[in-house]
Amino acid sequence: MKASILSFRAAVLMVIAGTIWGIVMGISQDHSTMPAHAHLNLLGWVSLFLFGIYYHLHPAVDLNRLALVQVWIWIVGTIVLTIGVGLAHSGHAVGEPIAAVSSLVVLADALLFGWLGFRREPAELAGPRSTVPAE
Ligand code: HEM
Repeated sequence: MKASILSFRAAVLMVIAGTIWGIVMGISQDHSTMPAHAHLNLLGWVSLFLFGIYYHLHPAVDLNRLALVQVWIWIVGTIVLTIGVGLAHSGHAVGEPIAAVSSLVVLADALLFGWLGFRREPAELAGPRSTVPAE
């Protein structure tokens, strides 16, 4: 599977979970887990969707297996971070180390995404395409 497809699919699942969470918070009038809801939506929906757009616009990177690994790490990191933040904000101290470790995983994965983006693509290394039609 391409990294962009995985990003878009995971983003949709995250926004469904994130918005249901928001509705439950609103109905119950209990906003204590609001930071976890915000992280799920921003890391899970917004960031994954942006990764998907980037990968879709850069087909050579999209096909790179490392891009797929980057998206999977982000998905798992986001879920674990959300659980950790949710536990920490609902009075369970065990959530703090979970949030701490997963935040470092997400940071490392952001660096991996940066490396994939800053690296020069094979098409770029080949030089600019000629706009002059072949004779
Ligand atoms: C049906 C959809 C949604 C509902 C019902 C909902 C509901 C809520 C509620 C009740 C709060 C707590 C507000 C407070 O206590 O001050 C909140 C906070 C927040 N939500 Fe949502 N939300 C939804 C979707 C989203 C989405 C899609 C995003 C991001 C893309 C998002 C990002 C945030 C953020 C960043 C906060 C924290 C705001 C702050 O710090 O004051 N939410 N949401």
